[in-house]
Amino acid sequence: MIPTPDLSHIRKEDYERVYEPAEDTFLLLDALEEDEALIQQLKPSICLEIGSGSGCVTTLLAKIVGNKNAVFFTTDINPFACETTQQTGLHNGITQIEPIRTSLVDAIMPRLKNRIDILCFNPPYVVTTHEEVGSMGIEASWAGGIDGREVIDQLLPLVKVCLCKDILSPQGIFYLLLINENKPDQVVQLMKETYKMNAKIIMERRAGREKQFIVKITH
Ligand SMILES: C[S@@+](CC[C@H](N)C(=O)[O-])C[C@H]1O[C@@H](n2cnc3c(N)ncnc32)[C@H](O)[C@@H]1O
Repeated sequence: MIPTPDLSHIRKEDYERVYEPAEDTFLLLDALEEDEALIQQLKPSICLEIGSGSGCVTTLLAKIVGNKNAVFFTTDINPFACETTQQTGLHNGITQIEPIRTSLVDAIMPRLKNRIDILCFNPPYVVTTHEEVGSMGIEASWAGGIDGREVIDQLLPLVKVCLCKDILSPQGIFYLLLINENKPDQVVQLMKETYKMNAKIIMERRAGREKQFIVKITH
């Protein structure tokens, strides 16, 4: 078992500026750990986490991959999250994290089209008003707009809509965290029917009033 990354370098007050790992984060960590053998077999060379926050997920992924030549891009709209992600990697002996402050994959597409072997996204999924979406501060951690789907729905067509916008490599895997209100079954159907991808719910867990899911998407 790979230990959860050490986050002792992050001060309590820092969590007023960056998302503090919570049950959703840990469900994503568990899904990656569950697929440890599969991920290692894939020998990923380029990974991407969208919305990396503290950097906890990418740091664990880098430990699973275990290849010093692999590169781990992260994006976040919040500049402090990018800084924290880098620090978390270094604090845990991971030097190959390259944080990029951008929305979703704006700064890296189409350069990295079809190059991402492992893609992770624990998105802002909370149902809010449309007006709350789009901040660059801590609110961006949760504000998901209508059905909590506004940020998620900006990304889904990019996974496979046309060749120039494909993100995943042919053997790539996308791990997406959703909650009940995001209509995970509908996302699975959308990925299958509209984008002709394989998609299934591989984990689900209740966290207080929230029911959280991991959807796994592949070509
Ligand atoms: C629920 S938090 C998850 C943080 C971390 N990955 C984790 O699991 O603990 C969502 C993250 O997405 C970021 N985010 C929100 N909108 C974004 C966007 N359009 N592009 C990139 N990152 C975004 C937030 O700043 C926040 O860090």
